[in-house]
Amino acid sequence: MRKKIVAGNWKMNTDYPQGLWLASEVVNMVNDEVLSNVTVILAPPFSHLYGVGQLIKESPKVHLAAQNCGSEKSGAFTGEVSASMVKSVGAEYVIIGHSERRHIYGENNAMVERKIKLSLETGLYPIFCCGETLNERNSGKHFQVINSQLEEALFELTENEISRVVIAYEPVWAIGTGVNATSHQAQEIHHFIRNSIKEKYGESISDSTSILYGGSCNSKNAKELFCNPDVDGGLIGGASLKSREFVDIIKMI
Ligand code: 13P
Repeated sequence: MRKKIVAGNWKMNTDYPQGLWLASEVVNMVNDEVLSNVTVILAPPFSHLYGVGQLIKESPKVHLAAQNCGSEKSGAFTGEVSASMVKSVGAEYVIIGHSERRHIYGENNAMVERKIKLSLETGLYPIFCCGETLNERNSGKHFQVINSQLEEALFELTENEISRVVIAYEPVWAIGTGVNATSHQAQEIHHFIRNSIKEKYGESISDSTSILYGGSCNSKNAKELFCNPDVDGGLIGGASLKSREFVDIIKMI
């Protein structure tokens, strides 16, 4: 059976002491309160990875992710952090192709594909993000957009490689807006994604791929989003910065 996952993407928030505090609160609450078999992932900023990693080491349910990695292995790329660097400080996962990377920093599907390959080579599990803008949805192009993101960034991977990828559907219009996708909208796209994987790689791989929903997910709407058959958890932004709220979301799975 595929994994249930709730991941917190802290984005560019918290200084180092605040990040350690937040992580320790989450770990304590997860240890005390979360009984289900869920994989919890924390994605703090690069600067916090090692420290947060040390804190969560003792908690079997809580894992570490980077929010991004460089598109080259190493070398003269000032300001970049490579996949092997984040692996070496304890990250197991890495978020790739987040809409903020695509829209603010101009990452395209080709670059996303390179980062996914590098992270897989390094032994990380990529969390691949896809999703349409409001304009694309309003003009009925959402399936087409998701399809090209999958085709161009993921579908050159081997069966072995794709089996290590987590997918996150994050409609751009839902990120940080307070307007989440409806349960129906989420299930429709998640089903489309799973079906595309099935057509390309077969049923056993599509059945075991975790597909997360992200975009204004909170403890009030998480239950109806997570109860869909093709929604395997969430990638949470703003609501992951408050330990109580984040753990309440985790408990909805
Ligand atoms: P919000 O939960 O703040 O809408 O952000 C979602 C997101 O971008 C997670 O990666």
